[in-house]
Amino acid sequence: MIAMARMTFLNLVVATLNLLFTASHSAAQLVPTGQTILLNGLSYYVPPAPVTTVTFRRFKSLPSAGGLVPVTVVNSLVNLQATVQTYGEVDDVWNTGFLEAVLIASNGSYSNHNSTTTYGSSNTTLVVHISSTTTVPPGPYLLSSAGALYQPWRLYTDFAGAFTQPLIPAADGAFAPLPAAVAGIQSPAVAVPSRLYYAKSPSKPLAGVRIGIKDIYDVAGVRTSDGNRAFYSLYPPASTSAVAVQLLIDAGAIIVGKMKTSQFANGELATADWVDYHSPFNPRGDGYQDPSSSSSGPGAGEASYPWLDLALGSDTGGSIRGPAQVQGLFGNRPSHGLVPLTNVMPLAPQLDTAGFEARDPALWTAAAKVLYPSLKPYTTYPKKIQTINFPTNASAGGSDAVVLGFLAKLEGFLGASTTELDYEALWNDTKPKEAGDASLDELLNITYPVLISKEQTMLLRDGFYADYAKAHDGRRPFVDPVPLIRWAFGDSFPASTLTEAISNKTIFMNWWNSIVLPFNEETCSDSLVLYTAGDEIQYRNEYNGYAAPPVLCA
Ligand SMILES: *[C@@H]1O[C@H](CO)[C@@H](O)[C@H](O)[C@H]1NC(C)=O
Ligand SMILES: *[C@@H]1O[C@H](CO)[C@@H](O)[C@H](O)[C@H]1NC(C)=O
Ligand SMILES: *[C@@H]1O[C@H](CO)[C@@H](O)[C@H](O)[C@H]1NC(C)=O
Ligand SMILES: *[C@@H]1O[C@H](CO)[C@@H](O)[C@H](O)[C@H]1NC(C)=O
Ligand SMILES: *[C@@H]1O[C@H](CO)[C@@H](O)[C@H](O)[C@H]1NC(C)=O
Ligand SMILES: *[C@@H]1O[C@H](CO)[C@@H](O)[C@H](O)[C@H]1NC(C)=O
Ligand SMILES: *[C@@H]1O[C@H](CO)[C@@H](O)[C@H](O)[C@H]1NC(C)=O
Repeated sequence: MIAMARMTFLNLVVATLNLLFTASHSAAQLVPTGQTILLNGLSYYVPPAPVTTVTFRRFKSLPSAGGLVPVTVVNSLVNLQATVQTYGEVDDVWNTGFLEAVLIASNGSYSNHNSTTTYGSSNTTLVVHISSTTTVPPGPYLLSSAGALYQPWRLYTDFAGAFTQPLIPAADGAFAPLPAAVAGIQSPAVAVPSRLYYAKSPSKPLAGVRIGIKDIYDVAGVRTSDGNRAFYSLYPPASTSAVAVQLLIDAGAIIVGKMKTSQFANGELATADWVDYHSPFNPRGDGYQDPSSSSSGPGAGEASYPWLDLALGSDTGGSIRGPAQVQGLFGNRPSHGLVPLTNVMPLAPQLDTAGFEARDPALWTAAAKVLYPSLKPYTTYPKKIQTINFPTNASAGGSDAVVLGFLAKLEGFLGASTTELDYEALWNDTKPKEAGDASLDELLNITYPVLISKEQTMLLRDGFYADYAKAHDGRRPFVDPVPLIRWAFGDSFPASTLTEAISNKTIFMNWWNSIVLPFNEETCSDSLVLYTAGDEIQYRNEYNGYAAPPVLCA
């Protein structure tokens, strides 16, 4: 009886297992996502797919982890010691741990396959000749016993809180969230590939350049947050990358992640305004200054991380220039319309532009040529400088001596003379008849806030609210105070005010481009106009008044 009962029970269990297996076996999708390793104390992410498979004679047992041996691929054995020393100097991913074996492509010839060479004063490295059907660029790799060569990505902690989502390349030109972590203060890990794999060329001027992308640009395979948690959750991953992002990828840039934006690219002050995402940290001074906005992640990341070469931001009313100013970076607002902003979150299409936060002006120049393909190369510099609200006394203290010293150097370099620009007085003297008697303050007082709020409510908010309501029983998504207040400001004007704002903006633009800063065939603009941003410092731990719309002279 007992035996029979047990049999029945076992049969039942087996039957149930069979059911489970048939039900779940075909549905199970096991997707490897790579692994992380430590080599000489440094963290690396190793993607699941090798870059190539090589053939070689088996070498003696070497230290390995997860079946992988750290190796260095070189182009030539000539001056090996000097070569690997250079690797250490130019690349932050390679380290001496990768010298367990040196691989040299010999394309089928195994002569000398089992030789050793010395590195440094006494360290010995095994030289292994490999054969591969594809060219293997030099640099650090991990080699499996079956000959699979993997490229390790070095992991860094995002201690400045500059990223929303670190990325790695996925299939078909898309990207995927990086499935790796390292120790850090509420920060994700960001992965970067070796600089040794890439050689810049005319068709790949940004080969290997590591770039972060403000999280208002779509990147294929990844969700866009626009700095809002509900927005991130509501919409599926983007199916294509924004045109601006794709131009950079096609030029060889490595997209390492999406970076923080203040919500819907509206200006937010650290930290109270940043309700959904925490404001990134400006590394300047004691590390507790506001990073400015809205390209806060690109600015803070570019200022904080030597391993990040460039960051793509956007500028509508100062969103690149602000973070650059307060974090000691080069940042640009380009001429409007130089690159289409398809698949990029709009603030006001009449003013939205794409540009960079950069530390290296030469790299900025190379990247600008990629991002603005229609930009004509100008051959000479302007010979005139106009300054707005510049200091006049270098002995007066503060930053005045620095600003005037820069001006003197610029004058010397250009062979230019400087005049003070009082554009309000110039407006009073030369204003176009369409402007009537309006002073500049009257003309432009509400132009910018009306443009950004009315355009963004129409182009983004209304659809977002409707889609969210449909998915969530008619409810409203959470939105930070700053965009809410700006949108409400826009709602307080009739639709005709938008037409008026566009007209005022156009009147001003045409006047500025003809009277203040006329075009010049050789020098682009007839003069350089310089202005300073003021020297007021905003700290993260200051409480500010409740958010208000950005009225020019309220
Ligand atoms: C490589 O050389 C060492 C020392 O000469 C020898 O012991 C070893 O067997 C060789 N390995 C192979 C794969 O030829
Ligand atoms: C040689 O190896 C030792 C021990 O692994 C290491 O500490 C040292 O840095 C190495 N020397 C060179 C020149 O790489
Ligand atoms: C190896 O030789 C083959 C045939 O000559 C050639 O097609 C291939 O490009 C070579 N590979 C390398 C890495 O040089
Ligand atoms: C410049 O500033 C210094 C220091 O404050 C002051 O002594 C000097 O009078 C100023 N010169 C002029 C021309 O204002
Ligand atoms: C320009 O004119 C306005 C009046 O329309 C006046 O208030 C303002 O002071 C003038 N500005 C300058 C710099 O002359
Ligand atoms: C600018 O707009 C604000 C708010 O609408 C208003 O209070 C102020 O008087 C305006 N200033 C000018 C110069 O038009
Ligand atoms: C446009 O300019 C007029 C002055 O010419 C001003 O009264 C009006 O407030 C401005 N409107 C906007 C939306 O900028």
